Amino acid sequence: AKFTWVDKDTCIACGACGATAPDIYDYDDEGLAEVIFDGDGNHGIKAIPEDMHEDMLDACDGCPTDSIIIADEPFNKEG
Ligand code: F3S
Repeated sequence: AKFTWVDKDTCIACGACGATAPDIYDYDDEGLAEVIFDGDGNHGIKAIPEDMHEDMLDACDGCPTDSIIIADEPFNKEG
């Protein structure tokens, strides 16, 4: 399984990830990205379905500050 979260400390609100993978990434009030898939709340605990992995990886590759983090295990971040 794949899990993802956004490091808001380094996100510069460029807006690329939500355009590339709108079902996974959206923006908070400050325009910083966060994982919204299945109510994840940017905790990185919801498994991203396989048919969405390509979009997720494209978003990761496209982030100018490498703020999109992906791993095989849940992160359990504070959000
Ligand atoms: Fe932020 Fe990177 Fe998305 S800078 S808005 S996480 S593409």
